[in-house]
Amino acid sequence: MSAVLKPPNAQPPLEAQLEAMTGEWLEAVAHVEQSAYDHPWSAGNFNDSVKAGYHAQMLTAGVAPAAQLIGYFVAMRGVDEVHLLNITVAPAYQRQGWGHVMLDALTLWARGQGAQWLWLEVRLSNVHAKTLYERYGFREVGLRRNYYPAFAGQREDAIVMSFAL
Ligand SMILES: CC(C)(COP(=O)(O)OP(=O)(O)OC[C@H]1O[C@@H](n2cnc3c(N)ncnc32)[C@H](O)[C@@H]1OP(=O)(O)O)[C@@H](O)C(=O)NCCC(=O)NCCS
Repeated sequence: MSAVLKPPNAQPPLEAQLEAMTGEWLEAVAHVEQSAYDHPWSAGNFNDSVKAGYHAQMLTAGVAPAAQLIGYFVAMRGVDEVHLLNITVAPAYQRQGWGHVMLDALTLWARGQGAQWLWLEVRLSNVHAKTLYERYGFREVGLRRNYYPAFAGQREDAIVMSFAL
């Protein structure tokens, strides 16, 4: 799968491709992760996900050794659902439509797996991500209390959202 999007600031359109997350990208993935979250996954979390056979995909532009990492997502196949565990767009590429592109890629894959639902959790305070999901068609279906770590040893609730495939 590949996609071309035009950035908002009159730069030339960027052509990106989707590829499986592999060991040689883990350092770059962890670097983006740290730049995008206050409570990031570690490189080990991504490594474990890849080893567990989760669907871990990256959006990249250009070719090695100059390839850039635009974003990535990690999803886990359940019984009749796919659970989105992580979706991230590198800060420099946010708000250009790439999050939407990755949800399309996830939806396509999940349908191909015979899943009927997508599920995810999002921090109560993560208004941007929640807006993306709502605009995509996800609906709020529950709340998990104290699901995420927060600052100073506190915890934060997660909103559970689902999307009918
Ligand atoms: C959430 C995230 C994946 C969205 O990716 P993105 O590529 O920036 O999103 P898109 O450009 O595809 O945005 C699609 C829609 O989502 C909403 N949205 C996304 N980012 C937004 C922002 N910063 N402010 C307001 N709305 C936003 C908008 O409705 C947007 O459509 P529009 O630009 O036409 O108004 C990205 O901001 C990110 O990686 N954030 C940090 C990590 C994170 O929070 N991940 C989700 C964990 S649950």
